[in-house]
Amino acid sequence: MINPYLPYPVRIDQIITETEDRNLKTFKFVFLNPEDEPRFAYHPGQFAELSIAGKGEIPIGIASSPTEQGFIKFTVNKVGLVSSYLHNMNEGEIMGVRGPLGNWYPLEEMAGKNIVIVAGGFAFTTLRSTIIYLLEPKNRARFQDITVVYGARSPGMLLYKDELAAWEARDDIKMHITVDGTDDPDWKYNVGFVPAITEKKAPSAGDAYALVCGPPIMIKFTQPVLEKLGFPPERIIMSLENRMKCGIGMCGRCSVGPEFVCKDGPVFTLAKLNSLPKEY
Ligand SMILES: Cc1cc2nc3c(=O)[nH]c(=O)nc-3n(C[C@H](O)[C@H](O)[C@H](O)COP(=O)(O)OP(=O)(O)OC[C@H]3O[C@@H](n4cnc5c(N)ncnc54)[C@H](O)[C@@H]3O)c2cc1C
Ligand code: FES
Repeated sequence: MINPYLPYPVRIDQIITETEDRNLKTFKFVFLNPEDEPRFAYHPGQFAELSIAGKGEIPIGIASSPTEQGFIKFTVNKVGLVSSYLHNMNEGEIMGVRGPLGNWYPLEEMAGKNIVIVAGGFAFTTLRSTIIYLLEPKNRARFQDITVVYGARSPGMLLYKDELAAWEARDDIKMHITVDGTDDPDWKYNVGFVPAITEKKAPSAGDAYALVCGPPIMIKFTQPVLEKLGFPPERIIMSLENRMKCGIGMCGRCSVGPEFVCKDGPVFTLAKLNSLPKEY
């Protein structure tokens, strides 16, 4: 049996600075032992503990998709001790990845339905994984319309800019990119907060699921918009980011009522969250 506390050794293959403030970087890792890659079989929505010897571990959503082979990717915001240390590491250095952890977006249940993705800021990571998965030719036909509302503070703060441009150019995914504000005269997408753009674009709730990730303030104002559009709480799906330690349901650090966010989540329906104390 594999020890769940033991990270897989990985090499930092590539580091991409995503945002103009340089606080968000994407780390592409390659498994040092190729036989570990199939052991790390994951689904969109799961997370892993990024582990740096002598520094600690941090839970980070998996930004790559299981349909991408040969590497795994994580996008990390520089906020404190471990994330800052990671930001100062270089390509070629060795560290650990423990996981995959937690549950995932219910993509099997969502097959045959319309999908609306609403995201703000750097919480877009596991939804990037989801979009790549959905657009994979062998998967795309299994789902109906895909609509994405994704916003950041300014154009320079958007993640995955090349991919956003590529998705914009496709006709099998409807993109609504927005920024809170910009003085860029060449900006050709929306200006406005994510909840307002969601309301304006009004994606149909008919036979649809909404996946929502973002900062608490965005979630707070997006929830009533989706409910007004007719999405039932069972079909509004969110991902939580509570503080964690073990990541495997052993320490109780991440509990919300009787649920452990690391094991029973991080993905919950709004219907489930409505039944829990507001400890998230
Ligand atoms: C399931 C899950 C998925 C996540 N996915 C991502 C991701 O894809 N990209 C990403 O950048 N971050 C993500 N996070 C948040 C990330 O885990 C924290 O930012 C990280 O643990 C901070 O560690 P640190 O040592 O750098 O900061 P610390 O030194 O521990 O803390 C620095 C500051 O950050 C705050 N902080 C630390 N952890 C959290 C947290 N979980 N939520 C809110 N505030 C926190 C602290 O209160 C403190 O103010 C995720 C968290 C969870 C639980
Ligand atoms: S982090 Fe230990 S129980 Fe969730």
